[in-house]
Formats: sequence, structure tokens, C-alpha cells
Amino acid sequence: MIKTSLLGDKPVNRIGFGAMQLAGPGVFGPPSDPEGARAVLRRAVDLGVDHIDTSQFYGPDVVNELIREALYPYPQHLKLVTKVGGRRDDAGGWLPAQSPAELRAGVEANLRTLQVERMDLVNLRLFDEHDAEGQLAEQLGALEDLRQEGKLDLIGISNASADTVRRALELVHIACVQNAYSVVNRGDEEGLALCEERGLAFVPFFPLGSAFAGGPRQLAADPAIAEVAARRGATPSQIALAWLLHRSERILLIPGTSSVEHLEENVAAGDIDLDEQDMQRLEDAVQLGDPMAAAEH
Ligand SMILES: NC(=O)c1ccc[n+]([C@@H]2O[C@H](COP(=O)([O-])OP(=O)(O)OC[C@H]3O[C@@H](n4cnc5c(N)ncnc54)[C@H](OP(=O)(O)O)[C@@H]3O)[C@@H](O)[C@H]2O)c1
Repeated sequence: MIKTSLLGDKPVNRIGFGAMQLAGPGVFGPPSDPEGARAVLRRAVDLGVDHIDTSQFYGPDVVNELIREALYPYPQHLKLVTKVGGRRDDAGGWLPAQSPAELRAGVEANLRTLQVERMDLVNLRLFDEHDAEGQLAEQLGALEDLRQEGKLDLIGISNASADTVRRALELVHIACVQNAYSVVNRGDEEGLALCEERGLAFVPFFPLGSAFAGGPRQLAADPAIAEVAARRGATPSQIALAWLLHRSERILLIPGTSSVEHLEENVAAGDIDLDEQDMQRLEDAVQLGDPMAAAEH
């Protein structure tokens, strides 16, 4: 199994960490055990994770603050990746914040809370592609301005159809696509194929089928996944992650967890070799549909 892949022109460990699960319930407010959350982050870095995905709107503020408290001063090769384009209301609702001014403010807020001068990558997180059509050039232009000001290194795009990614590629240099995709949600095969063709990183979110949709529990209940897990002496979550690693060399993982035990399990998925028979059997995994519908954001 190839252990590293490219984010822009820099190699990163293919198993990174998604920090969304470190906030309180509903990704809103602080976790019940902040020291436990910081311990997960420190253990991730100890295990070789050098790519952390976050957002100012996780909490809001909470997750970035935990990352800074746990890891600042940051290891030299750690890539901090964020996404802008959303905000939270007082009840934890997820709202769009898609104007160029809001995107700029979002990047500035990430720089401030993470205490860095430059983000390694900022994803434009689209909320409603139909609305975005008219302003994609302005939105990506705002991020490109920030790039030229030295406030970010790379631009990515998230929740984008393959057509939108193609349009984005005509406007600015795009380094990654972050879309929902997993062994139980293969709806974005076209986006993955496009990333392979154009040499972009594909960073699937909800790699375990989404906590919001009961994903990890459903992985265990799937006969194909359970069968391969038993054959490989691995857990269903590890098989879901190993499937992604085998599916394409352009895939970088950012599985999210609030538990050191699950983190260790997820990182160990990088050592699981799946053969053709395993991959063929996993073609039968039952598809669960779009987890974003359950996530309400
Ligand atoms: N761009 C976007 O719109 C977007 C949307 C959603 C997420 N994201 C990013 O993508 C990352 C990954 O998504 P996600 O965290 O929501 O993925 P996920 O597929 O929902 O997986 C996370 C869930 O799996 C559980 N889990 C993790 N490891 C496990 C293991 N080894 N065994 C059993 N259960 C396990 C976690 O619970 P425990 O905490 O108990 O382990 C949590 O409930 C996020 O952290 C975030 O950074 C981006």
C-alpha cells in the first residue's frame, strides 16, 4: 500500500485526521472532555498524521482552538486545511456564508484562531450549487487574492459536482476536491475520476458513511464488509478506510473520531492489504444514499 500521496506538490501521509468530531454534540459547542479531544490530536501527530482537516464553523471556533491548544507550535510538516463558506446560528443551524467578503473573513478567522500566518489549503465549501453558479468566479477570485497575499497556499473545492469542479479548474489552480464518498456512498465516482485525470487530491468526507446517518454501525451490518473484515482480521471501519485507500492513489483520508482508540484503529487501516477478491466482494456493499440529507448541512 502506498503510504503517501500529494496535496498540491507536497507529499502527505494518506491517512490524515478530520477534526469535526472533536466539537460537542451536533458539531456545536465544546466537547464534554476537552482534554480528551486534545489527547486525540496529539496522538494523531505521534502516529504520523500530517494533514488535519478543520473549519472555523466546527463549534464554531471550538475545534480550531482545541487544535491550537494541543499542537501549537505546530510540527514543521503538518498541513492545516480548512473550509470556508458557512456559518452557524445561535441554535447550531448551518447557514451559508458564501459572499467574497464572508469567505475572506472566514479565512482571516481561521488564521487568527489557529495562530498561523498562512493556511496550507482552504476549501471553498459550497452550500447550494445552483446559487453558486453566478458567483463561482468571484468566490474563487477572493481565495486567489488571499493566496497572492500569502494567506493561503492552495485552494480546494468542496460539495461540488464534477461540472462545477471543471468550471473551477478554468478559473484558478485547484489542488483538491472534498466531497462525500465511501464504500457505502459511491455517488461521486465522476468527481473521483476527474481528480485522477487532472491530478488533484480527492479527500472524501464521511469515509465511514457519516455519523449523522449511523454510518459506522451500518458498516458492521453490511454482509460484504463484515465478510471481508472477518477474512482480514480487521474491523468494518478499517475495511471501509482500506477500501478507499485501494480505490485510488489520489485519495487522502480524513476520518474523524473523538476517541484515541478509534484513531489508532483508523491509522492502522493503512497496513491492511485488500486483494482483488476483497475489492470484488466490496462492490456488493449496500449503498446508503446521500448522507448530507441526514446531516442537514
Ligand atoms: N466538506 C464538508 O462539507 C465536510 C462535511 C463533513 C465532514 N467533513 C470533514 O470530513 C471529516 C470526516 O468526516 P466524519 O468525521 O463526519 O466521518 P464519518 O464517516 O461520519 O465518521 C465519523 C464517525 O465514525 C465514528 N468512528 C470513527 N472511527 C471509528 C472507528 N474506528 N470505529 C467505529 N466508529 C468510528 C466516529 O465516532 P467516535 O468519535 O466515537 O469515534 C463518528 O461517529 C470530518 O471530521 C470533517 O473534517 C467535511
